[in-house]
Amino acid sequence: MIIDGKQAAAKLRITIAKDVIALKASKGITPSLTVVLVGDDPASQVYVRNKAKQTTEVGMISNEIRLPENCSQAELLSQLTHLNNDTSVHGILVQLPLPKHLDESLVIGAITPEKDVDGFHAMNAGRLLNGESGAMVPCTPQGCIILAKQHLGNDLSGKHAVVIGRSNIVGKPVALLLLQQNCTVTIAHSRTENLPQICQQADILIAAVGRAEFVQADWVKKGATVIDVGINRIEDMVTGKMKLVGDVDYAAVSEVCGAITPVPGGVGPMTIACLLKNTLEAAKLYG
Ligand code: GUN
Repeated sequence: MIIDGKQAAAKLRITIAKDVIALKASKGITPSLTVVLVGDDPASQVYVRNKAKQTTEVGMISNEIRLPENCSQAELLSQLTHLNNDTSVHGILVQLPLPKHLDESLVIGAITPEKDVDGFHAMNAGRLLNGESGAMVPCTPQGCIILAKQHLGNDLSGKHAVVIGRSNIVGKPVALLLLQQNCTVTIAHSRTENLPQICQQADILIAAVGRAEFVQADWVKKGATVIDVGINRIEDMVTGKMKLVGDVDYAAVSEVCGAITPVPGGVGPMTIACLLKNTLEAAKLYG
């Protein structure tokens, strides 16, 4: 079975758009998201354009600040201070990766946690770790849980979830969310020994390693739910054209698993929908 992320994201956006109308009517607040893009990385430009389009489509205000590739750390921090103090801005997102001369964790740390709609600030990461309410939860991990539940139902208790990848953006936060859902969680990564055997134990397998078609069919338990977070650009052997593939060998794994998210059209669309959800939440709580 294919877990359709495009459809799930469209459904979530409809709910958000309704909530935006209600918030406007009840409190006169229109949620607003500002995306900061430093430099001109082509992939980042595409992401930022998609975010802006979908933000306005749900009735929110979308702003974009573009800074040059050689922008100084001080200049970027000064922009963030300005946005932190601007009460008409509810969500701030600094598009990653940043140019090499900028300190990513310092920049993320300069965003007011209440406006950190990416959920990357140490305060939000800590709140998630402690299971405290009020955390801004990173978007891709939220999307993974929604899609897993779409197939398995709301109760994930007792399921063994194996996460491949330990990044701050996906691996670590998705592991914490799965733990919150009472899963038994294994975090595997590039140094893990016997990775195929560990993956074979997974009822829920989350692949977030950034390696094209890495997860093989014989690593997957029959009937498992597979969530593929990877977005890798590779050359199609047949046509010679570039194509997008996930971290899972989709064709082969589909034959074994119970359900799988496709790439594209799986986790990707959910990430932006969850970003809008976080922006709405920030406007409701702090607007
Ligand atoms: N670059 C790739 N994914 C993300 C994301 O989720 N947030 C930000 N800010 N940058 C990204």
